Amino acid sequence: MDHSHYVVDPMISAKSIAARVEVLAHEISEYFADTEKLIVVGLLRGSFVFIADLVRELDLPVEVDFLETSSYGDGVQSTREVRILKDLRGEIQGRDILVVEDIVDTGYTLKHVISLLKSRDPKRLKVCALLDKPSRREVDITADWIGFEIPDEFVVGYGIDYAQRNRNLSHIGKIRFLE
Ligand code: IMP
Ligand code: MG
Repeated sequence: MDHSHYVVDPMISAKSIAARVEVLAHEISEYFADTEKLIVVGLLRGSFVFIADLVRELDLPVEVDFLETSSYGDGVQSTREVRILKDLRGEIQGRDILVVEDIVDTGYTLKHVISLLKSRDPKRLKVCALLDKPSRREVDITADWIGFEIPDEFVVGYGIDYAQRNRNLSHIGKIRFLE
C-alpha cells in the first residue's frame, strides 16, 4: 500500500481533551498534595503538547524535565527496542516523579523508562498517559492515570505524529490511508 496518501478522521475533540486534562490534573494534584516538588518528566516528542497543558492545571510546585527514547522511526510498526536518545538533566533520587507519555501501545517504551527511572531511586514514581491502546499491549504495564482508552487505530494530533507530521493539530484524529 502507498502510505503517502491519507486523511485524518476526527476522533477526540480539542474540547474533550481540555476537559479530561483538567480532571487528570486535579487527581494528580490531590495524589501529590503533600509533595515538596513534583518533577514532571515528559517523553519527547509526542508528549510536548499534553505536558504543556497538564502542568498548567497542576496545583503543585512543579519542575519539568524531558527524556527522549527512540521511536517508531517513520513507520507505524513498533521496533520493541527502546534506547535513550536524551536523558534527564536533573537528579531524581528521593524525588516525586510523574512520567507523562502520549500513548501506551505495546508498553515496551514505558516498561523501559519506568525501570530506568526506578533504578535511580525516586521517592514516588507515577505515570500519566494521554492515550491507551490496551488491545495492543505486549508487556504487563499500565499507566496510573489515563486520558482516553482508544481502539487499535493509528492516531495523530495534540503532539502525536505520523512520520513527524500532524503534531500541530489541536484535536486527535485517526489516520486513514487512501488507495
Ligand atoms: P510502545 O512502546 O509500543 O508502547 O509505544 C509507545 C510509543 O509509540 C508512543 O509513545 C508513541 O510515540 C508511539 N505510538 C504508538 N501508537 C501510536 C499512534 O497511534 N500514533 C503515533 N505514535 C504512536
Ligand atoms: Mg512516544
